Amino acid sequence: MVSYSAIKDKLKIEVERENNIGVAHLTHYFQNHINGVSQHYIEPATSYLKKISEDLNLVEEPQMQQLLPIQFDVPFPPPENYDFTFIDLFAGIGGFRIPTQELNGKCVFTSEFNYHAQRAYEINFGEVPFGDITKLDLNIVPKHDILMAGFPCQPFSISGKMKGFEDTRGTLIYNVLQIIELREPKVVLLENVKHLVHHDKGRTLKIILKHLEELGYKTSCEILNSSDFGVPQNRERIIIVGHKKKEFDFSKIKTIPKPILKGFLDKDVEFEYLNEPYTLIENPKTQTSGLIFIGYRNKTIRKAGVRPGTENLSRVHKQPNRIYSSDGLHPALPSQESSGRFWIYDNGKVRKLTINECYKIMGFPENFIKINNLSELYRQVGNSVCVPMVKEIMKEIKKQLL
Ligand SMILES: C[S@@+](CC[C@H](N)C(=O)[O-])C[C@H]1O[C@@H](n2cnc3c(N)ncnc32)[C@H](O)[C@@H]1O
Repeated sequence: MVSYSAIKDKLKIEVERENNIGVAHLTHYFQNHINGVSQHYIEPATSYLKKISEDLNLVEEPQMQQLLPIQFDVPFPPPENYDFTFIDLFAGIGGFRIPTQELNGKCVFTSEFNYHAQRAYEINFGEVPFGDITKLDLNIVPKHDILMAGFPCQPFSISGKMKGFEDTRGTLIYNVLQIIELREPKVVLLENVKHLVHHDKGRTLKIILKHLEELGYKTSCEILNSSDFGVPQNRERIIIVGHKKKEFDFSKIKTIPKPILKGFLDKDVEFEYLNEPYTLIENPKTQTSGLIFIGYRNKTIRKAGVRPGTENLSRVHKQPNRIYSSDGLHPALPSQESSGRFWIYDNGKVRKLTINECYKIMGFPENFIKINNLSELYRQVGNSVCVPMVKEIMKEIKKQLL
């Protein structure tokens, strides 16, 4: 059996900065050659294969059938015998795909337009995502059982009174709704920041749920926290589940007691220590969230609306100045490294988390390959989704809805 890395080498498969449609078709074909979905990709995949054979001046043009079957020598190969299919929209670095493949799900379509995330995706899964969803002919999306999307949150500009999901035209959820209308997946799983609940005074969420209901889905939503799924991060996200017949019961999802950060920290590596004055507060308390605000960098504190003597409250200090104890949780990793990662107090010293620790507290397996520069890696992990949380949600979706 030919290995994916050998084919990748021979055909020089790599993510381009512009226009990946050919290589996306080819890798999607490779990933799906044993199921009917491959018919969906075969024509453009074959033309692309012909084109690169010419471009690379290969003596003999490889025939598609000679390349198959492929042994996927990547960290997260597709399952051989799968129980259900899914699509991964706004795929990022594959936080949905890892746990869903572990539960014997087969991914049949991926879309992600960020070059760096696409590279991370290809190296870990052996598939190049299709790019900008707003520019794709959605007929290339095959039929699937579960649609998954951690979509970016955008306001809708119209009144919300119009019929159909025209209200959302021009936003990314519009493209998601179009795919749902076209392919009628059994289950829809959407994820977003907790703030979606309050976004545009609650209208954004209301409109999304209304449109899903118009498409025939019963919906339920819940705020879940990563810290209830075995990782020491206070990261709250809204999860929306839709199904044609049944309402998903969130109460059946298994949670576990919150761990603390200390057990997840690296040993014997180089740390980025704080080398300026800071203050530790007396008697730090564990907040209901599980965070322990233990001190702050000696920078000026907020003045407006701050009562004297309240310096020991975390909200008085700007985020990059706060220090949290490793005996508690870590705040939600931000998607922009430049907005300031948090400082933690561990072993009598103040430092930042290493990139490895960040992937650990998001629940990524050790064998996940981290490519790209550091600030890209921080951005990608902060944008991603907590892997063990998705796994527990998916276990229940499999039990209740498939
Ligand atoms: C919140 S992140 C989701 C991350 C993902 N759940 C993961 O596990 O890494 C949203 C992703 O959508 C991507 N994105 C935004 N607009 C897009 C578009 N028009 N087409 C495709 N991807 C898009 C971004 O690059 C980003 O990676």
